[in-house]
Parts: sequence; structure tokens; C-alpha cells
Amino acid sequence: MGRPSAELESWLLGLWLLLCSWGCLANTELQAPPDKIAIIGAGIGGTSSAYYLRQKFGKDVKIDLFERQEVGGRLATLKVEGQDFEAGGSVIHPLNLHMKRFVKDLGLSTVPTKGGLVGVYNGETLVFEESSWFIINMIKLVWHYGFQTLRMHMWVEDVLDKFMRIYRYQSHDYAFSSVEKLLHAVGGDDFLGLLNHTLHETLQKAGFSEKFLSEMVAPIMKVNYGQSTNISAFVGAVSMTGADSGLWAVEGGNKVVCSKLLKASKGNLIPGSVMFIEEKTRTTSAGNPTKMYEVVYQTGSETLSDFYDIVLVATPLNQKMSNITFLNFDPPIEEFDQFYKQIVTTLIKGELNSSVFGSGVENQFGLSTVLVTDSSDLFINSLGIVSPVKEEGNPLPSTDGTYVWKIFSPDVLSKKQIMKFFLSYDYAVKKTWRAYPVYQPPQKCPPIVLHDRLYYLNGIEFAASAMEMSAIAGYNAALLAYHRWNGRTDMIDQDGLYEKLKTEL
Ligand SMILES: Cc1cc2nc3c(=O)[nH]c(=O)nc-3n(C[C@H](O)[C@H](O)[C@H](O)COP(=O)(O)OP(=O)(O)OC[C@H]3O[C@@H](n4cnc5c(N)ncnc54)[C@H](O)[C@@H]3O)c2cc1C
Ligand SMILES: *[C@@H]1O[C@H](CO)[C@@H](O)[C@H](O)[C@H]1NC(C)=O
Ligand SMILES: *[C@@H]1O[C@H](CO)[C@@H](O)[C@H](O)[C@H]1NC(C)=O
Ligand SMILES: *[C@@H]1O[C@H](CO)[C@@H](O)[C@H](O)[C@H]1NC(C)=O
Ligand SMILES: *[C@@H]1O[C@H](CO)[C@@H](O)[C@H](O)[C@H]1NC(C)=O
Repeated sequence: MGRPSAELESWLLGLWLLLCSWGCLANTELQAPPDKIAIIGAGIGGTSSAYYLRQKFGKDVKIDLFERQEVGGRLATLKVEGQDFEAGGSVIHPLNLHMKRFVKDLGLSTVPTKGGLVGVYNGETLVFEESSWFIINMIKLVWHYGFQTLRMHMWVEDVLDKFMRIYRYQSHDYAFSSVEKLLHAVGGDDFLGLLNHTLHETLQKAGFSEKFLSEMVAPIMKVNYGQSTNISAFVGAVSMTGADSGLWAVEGGNKVVCSKLLKASKGNLIPGSVMFIEEKTRTTSAGNPTKMYEVVYQTGSETLSDFYDIVLVATPLNQKMSNITFLNFDPPIEEFDQFYKQIVTTLIKGELNSSVFGSGVENQFGLSTVLVTDSSDLFINSLGIVSPVKEEGNPLPSTDGTYVWKIFSPDVLSKKQIMKFFLSYDYAVKKTWRAYPVYQPPQKCPPIVLHDRLYYLNGIEFAASAMEMSAIAGYNAALLAYHRWNGRTDMIDQDGLYEKLKTEL
């Protein structure tokens, strides 16, 4: 009688061990936190990850942020006659919950970004012109496009609805080790498939007309991503949300979110350019050999280096943008040969020549934004009146009656090109960006985990590039680094979370 019970006992022990390897870790002591974490890049991705890393790892970990230019990165302002205007990322959607939360947590204020009336120019004439009368707009839209505008709205809302599940997963601390797994977790195969198809073919299949695609959808892709409707359907949907109402910006400039996040995270800003990252074995003060990452950076004419337990790369990894070399990794970590589109922001204070748009009587021109179709071989992507970052409500003309206009274009504009649209101008400033990825479906996203404790945030831009996407990637990387540090594999890459969390609440 002794043997079966011993067998049962060992079987039970085995079962316990098995269950324990799944669940008990959850109750065991956490690892001692890391000593030092490096973040490369102090844009919204890097600073939001610093904020969330601090929350997860606690007050004792040292967090260094390397930034070779300005805190804010692609969130930046340009000055026109002493006033600041957004030059990079400018509008935020009302359902961008991380950005909303930052503004609230950091005690910042928002300003609505009222667009004014929009027209669509095809290089010869305005093919669509918004009216200030809501009912007239509705009639115009239905007249031109039937109920496609409404159906478009529903299609975008459906994508957004699913995507917003990520907030619930993140609030329950779940992390993902790849962008594809993250997208799959929010909406399954169909959702992930949005990366594989162009917006054009997706909407064509859904029954939208060529006229609607070229006059309504293409101009929105052009102003938001400088590309055609051949971008992937996911970034296309994100871009369409830029046509929703209720868009806002941060008073004083969106970049203020980054400097405030940096301060709140008690991160240490190191002005310098990171050149190399190398894994090395170091002996700790207790005498144990430990694998760490050496970060080599240049500051002024000096080359310095320091060691870190965890490294987050929060800038696009390519030679033109970050130029970081990974030394002695096996397998090697290569640069991702994925291209970023050049976009030039030009701010012009002057008087528009509205007859360019063939819109009848001069002083009846009431549009404040002109979008362009793909067919026009124009040298601009969009043109619109903007307000300074400190101002609420509709843009006001300056005392001489002129406005400040913002133009996006693929190349730097010559004086002659500017004069094609203006009667006169007395001020023009510009900034050239490597703005966002060139989207070419089927779209593959670079990995998040580059090595054991080395993470990469900006692969998410290949799904879609936006402030909120970088913030989502920042939170995800912080959670992922935390769970991997503590061996909590049960918190990583869980599929079917939607159903699971639904029954939990
Ligand atoms: C013209 C334009 C308009 C846009 N409009 C919108 C919009 O309306 N709404 C929206 O949501 N998004 C918009 N975007 C996109 C949005 O701005 C970006 O997706 C977002 O700001 C990216 O943030 P990030 O932190 O991931 O990268 P970045 O802001 O690029 O930050 C990376 C940082 O890393 C630094 N860095 C790079 N290499 C190194 C190195 N080797 N060592 C040290 N530091 C390094 C860089 O200097 C930079 O500051 C727009 C972008 C552009 C360019
Ligand atoms: C997307 O396309 C790739 C090939 O480019 C394929 O391997 C993958 O299975 C596709 N994914 C989906 C969800 O359709
Ligand atoms: C989109 O891609 C198709 C097929 O590659 C091409 O024929 C078409 O010209 C592209 N459209 C635009 C607007 O670039
Ligand atoms: C990139 O960095 C390497 C080594 O630090 C340097 O030799 C090269 O000139 C840099 N390239 C660019 C495009 O900045
Ligand atoms: C304004 O634009 C129209 C149409 O392109 C052009 O004929 C006219 O010469 C322009 N006016 C000025 C002052 O440049």
C-alpha cells in the first residue's frame, strides 16, 4: 500500500512543480531592480518609456536618456515673428488616451485645433469645397459621393474601436514582444491583415468609388503621411482619424509633454550622440560576472561610455537618422533598411493668391486649408492657416491682415514656388524632416526585442507613425522590460486577452 501513495505523492509534486512554473512566479519575490537603464532618444517614445519605467521599477533605478538634439524630437516648434508654431507632430485625436493622460498627469492644458474650411485642389480647380453651413456640406457630400462619407466613418471607427483594446491590455500590465503580436491581440488575423494590403485595394473591395478615393481619401493621406492611398490599410485608417472632429494640441507646444515626462520620470538627460552599443561582461561590486550593455556616445568632442542593465532604443534605427552600430552581437543586429519619407514644413506669413485655386471672386475665398489630390503634379502636399501654440480658437490675422500658412512639401520650396501661391510674403521659415516611414505593404515591422535586455520602440511606426503610437510603444517596452527582468512570461504575448479580460470585469 506504501508504493502507490509514494507514486501519488511524487506525481502530485510533479504537478505542483508544473503548475508552479506557470503560476507561482506570480507570487514569488521580484528580482532586485536593475541599477541602470539607458534610453536613446528623448522624443515622445523615449520620454514616455522613462515615465512608465520609473513607475514599474521604482525610485532606485537610475534612468539615463541620451539626446543629441532637442528633447521632443519630431515634436518641435518654429518661430514666426516671435510666436511659436508646431513644425512636426501637431494634432492629437480625442481618443489618444496616453497623450490625454500625460496632459492630465503633468498639469498641462490643451487647445482645440480648429481647422476652418477645407477645399481639395486637383492642380487646376477645387474639386471639393467645404461650406460653413453644416447642412450644405451634407448635401454636397451626398451629392458628390452618396453615403460613402458615412460608410468611411464607420470603417475607420471599427478599426479604431478594436485598436483601443490595447489600452485595456496595458492597464492590466500585459506586454507584447512584437508589433505583429500586439496587433493580432487587438483584432486577430483580419486586423493584422491590414498591414498586408494597401488602403486602396481594401477600400476598393469594400465598394468605395475611385472618385471618392481620389478626391476625399488620397488628399488626407497626402497631408498626413505625404504618400498615396497605396500605403497600408492600417496607417490609412489612422490617417483618416485625422479628419475626425475634436482634435487638439498641447498649449505651449506638444514637445512640452516630452520635457515634462522627462522631469516626472526623474530621468537624467545626457546631451550626446550614441554611436555604439556592445554587450560586455562586467564584474559587479559583489564579485559576480554580469552581462551588461556598454553605450558609447559622443558629447562635444569627447567620446564617453557607460554600462547599463537594460537599453531602450527610442529612435528609428537607420543610418541617416540614428546611425547606431551594434558591436559583437551574435546573431548580429543590423540596421533596418527601411526608408523614411522626407517632408519639409514651411511657415509663411503672407497674402495668399486665392485665384490660383480658380475660385471665382477674390474676397470670397473662405478656405483655411487646401488639400491636394494625387493626380495634380504639384510640388506641395497641403497648405493651411495655423495658430501659434499659445492661442485658443480660430487663427487671427495679424494687424496687416495676413495669416501664417503652413505648407508641407516633399522638397524645399524655392522663392518662385512660394510665389506661385502667394501675392506677397514677408516671412518664411522651414524645417526638413525624415518624417515617417515610406509605407509599402505587405508591411513588416522591425522587432521589439533586439537582444536579451535590449529593446527597440520605433518598429511600431511601420504599423503607423503618430505620437500616440510612440507612447503606446513606450509603455509596451517598459512593461516588456519589466516582465522579462522578473521572468514573468505569463504577462507577455497573451492572445485571447479580449475575451479573458471581458469575463474578468
Ligand atoms: C511633419 C510631421 C507632421 C506630423 N504630424 C503628426 C500629427 O499631426 N499627429 C501625430 O500624432 N503625429 C504626427 N507626426 C508623427 C510624430 O511626430 C512622430 O510619430 C513622433 O513624434 C515620433 O516620436 P519618437 O519619440 O518615436 O521619435 P522622435 O521624435 O524622432 O525621437 C527620436 C529622438 O532620438 C534622437 N536621436 C536619434 N539618434 C540618436 C543618437 N544616436 N543618439 C542620441 N539621440 C539620438 C533624435 O534627435 C530624436 O530627438 C508628424 C511627424 C512629422 C515629421
Ligand atoms: C501577410 O503577408 C505575409 C507575407 O508577406 C504572410 O507571411 C502573412 O501570413 C500575412 N499575414 C496576414 C495576417 O495576412
Ligand atoms: C499604386 O500602386 C499601383 C500598383 O503598384 C500603381 O499602378 C499606382 O500608380 C499606384 N498609385 C499611386 C497613386 O501611386
Ligand atoms: C555613422 O557612424 C559611423 C561611425 O560612428 C561614421 O563613420 C559615419 O560617418 C556615420 N554616418 C553618418 C551618415 O552619419
Ligand atoms: C495669382 O494667380 C493667378 C492664377 O495663377 C495668376 O494669373 C496671377 O498672375 C497671380 N497674381 C499674382 C500677383 O501673382
